[in-house]
Amino acid sequence: MNKVNLAAAFARFHEHWSPKIVGDVNDSHVKVVKLRGEFTWHHHEHEDELFLVVRGRLRMQFRDRTVELDPGEFIVVPRGVEHCPAADEECHVLLFEPKSTLNTGNVQDERTVERPERLAGPERPEPLERPE
Ligand code: NI
Repeated sequence: MNKVNLAAAFARFHEHWSPKIVGDVNDSHVKVVKLRGEFTWHHHEHEDELFLVVRGRLRMQFRDRTVELDPGEFIVVPRGVEHCPAADEECHVLLFEPKSTLNTGNVQDERTVERPERLAGPERPEPLERPE
């Protein structure tokens, strides 16, 4: 069991819209992702998705409304609900969702990540702690 430092995890990559696995909880993954701009409208047939904002401001767009989230706030998008995350400035988000979850859900496009990179967890035993 190693702790995960979120600042260290976010320091490990720079690309947007490419979730990285940092933890495993039963059948779910904890992931971190950097967002900027607007993603792809999609839904997930079987998975609920939790988005927790760590830095910046997230705009979670639904077809009938938009929810703005600041650091320390999270939202759960239920399965089947169409959504499109967006952020004017870079936003750091922690995701908690079933391992089967594809980032673009029912849509396949250039931002679909079939096999997210793992930064921490059982198959990568070295600790992800903040560098001195
Ligand atoms: Ni989604």
